[in-house]
Amino acid sequence: MPTKLTLTNFYKRAPLLKVSNLSKSYFSPKGEMLPVLDKISLNLYKNEFVSVIGQSGCGKSTLLDCISGLSRPDQGKVNLNGIDITGSIGMLSYMMQDDVLLPWRTLEQNVMLPMQLGRKFNKYEAQERISRLAKIFGLNKFLNYYPYQLSGGMKQRVSLMRACISNKEILLLDEPFAKLDSLTRTQIQTWFLRIWRNNKLTVLMVTHDIDEALYLSNRIYVFSAKPAKIIAEINLPSISPKNVDNLLKPQYISVKKKLLSILHLNSLKFA
Ligand SMILES: Nc1ncnc2c1ncn2[C@@H]1O[C@H](COP(=O)(O)OP(=O)(O)OP(=O)(O)O)[C@@H](O)[C@H]1O
Ligand SMILES: [Mg+2]
Repeated sequence: MPTKLTLTNFYKRAPLLKVSNLSKSYFSPKGEMLPVLDKISLNLYKNEFVSVIGQSGCGKSTLLDCISGLSRPDQGKVNLNGIDITGSIGMLSYMMQDDVLLPWRTLEQNVMLPMQLGRKFNKYEAQERISRLAKIFGLNKFLNYYPYQLSGGMKQRVSLMRACISNKEILLLDEPFAKLDSLTRTQIQTWFLRIWRNNKLTVLMVTHDIDEALYLSNRIYVFSAKPAKIIAEINLPSISPKNVDNLLKPQYISVKKKLLSILHLNSLKFA
């Protein structure tokens, strides 16, 4: 008889991404050692939406840099499907915090850029894929537009589309909605949740916005101030479908209070 997929069984499966004991230090301009990540271990399961939350400067982008292979950790491992990918670039899609669109390239040319860097680039196929995805992202009428001709929300969708086009198993997102005004942000978040659900994506997102983490995630890891340690892991109530009104429900309000107290206590401790 097939095993029933309960929450407990879900987390008994092997994780798609396993980060173990990741540590990273930088050197300050004065040459002093600056520990940023302190033995971070976390798991990401297929089709999950997981957030990492923590105050500014605690090491969230550094974590994604290390997971993506852009930066090499001093210690620790990153495993994808059981294979060690520590320090390997291009295994995961990564939308960086300061992801910029090149102003001299059209929307289509911007999205095409990471594909052009790949070895098996075929322009005709790339255009086909972009055209298909642009319909999903509501951007099909703007493929020939330059970034200055797009609104802030549209540019954000182009960056997300560029991250999604590579069809990698995991999408790493660093503050993907932070530059949007609050009304547009909720619209784009709701739209992205639909993309995540319909396309069965697996997402690890970094944010310092508590409501954003509560609205979008299945699970949240909470980081301490620098050097970042995981100080809490929170499973969110599984109210389906995810809806922004959920944030007003008692289950969510109690999780929000818990998160606020953990973050507040921690920031006082490290101030
Ligand atoms: N390449 C680097 N060289 C030296 N120090 C760095 C480097 N990159 C990051 N840092 C330092 O590491 C610390 C963590 O930076 P990081 O960008 O990971 O923080 P963050 O949590 O993403 O912050 P924010 O929420 O503001 O984006 C900061 O003190 C930063 O100055
Ligand atoms: Mg950052």
